[in-house]
Amino acid sequence: METMITPSLLSADFANLQRDIDAVANADGLHIDVMDYDFVPNLTVGLPVVESIRKATDQFLDIHLMITDPDRWAPSYAEAGAESVTFHIEAAKAPIRLARELRRIGARAGMALNPATDIDGYRDILGEVDMVLIMTVEPGFGGQKFLDLCLPKITRTRELLGDRDIWLQVDGGVGPETIERCAEAGANVFVAGSAVFNADDPAAMVDLLRAEVAG
Ligand code: DX5
Ligand code: ZN
Repeated sequence: METMITPSLLSADFANLQRDIDAVANADGLHIDVMDYDFVPNLTVGLPVVESIRKATDQFLDIHLMITDPDRWAPSYAEAGAESVTFHIEAAKAPIRLARELRRIGARAGMALNPATDIDGYRDILGEVDMVLIMTVEPGFGGQKFLDLCLPKITRTRELLGDRDIWLQVDGGVGPETIERCAEAGANVFVAGSAVFNADDPAAMVDLLRAEVAG
């Protein structure tokens, strides 16, 4: 399964998004964190900014919705041309219907789990999604410490996915110190915000993270 390094724009300079998007042109996609001051205690960007980013780059756009009502708002991000749209399973009222709707529009559907959410209760719907996102910090902010207690869940999720071609993403505290452990546990898509954009050379950090995964 392919390895993808997807820098999170949450740690980019929002006044210089084009510059920072261009700074990681060697990445495999851009992770965009949408927060609503309700599902998480932070507010970031919404559809207008995603639409502008869509026009500004051909990169794979990986939207991470940390919002209370994804059933209502997620489809618009797929319609805006994002390749992947991920909703939180704790928030979705009808995750199967929502995943099918996202796929119908043409996006990959992703399902995210907070650190305290167990994967086993969702094993039956794994076939409905293209990606599972395991949060390795409590969602809401960049720059938090990686939660080691999430590692067994990554292993367990990969086990449940079996040989299905479903991506397993990790998000939160991922950097040179932690990425190998995530890869060993079975993750193949790696979000890194502060590690990439706080680096002197963000593109070099993307390459370094890719090299760490390759072993
Ligand atoms: C946090 C976001 C992450 C965040 C990760 O809620 O979902 O994508 O940008 O930032 P780092 O990599 O700094 O932990
Ligand atoms: Zn995220």
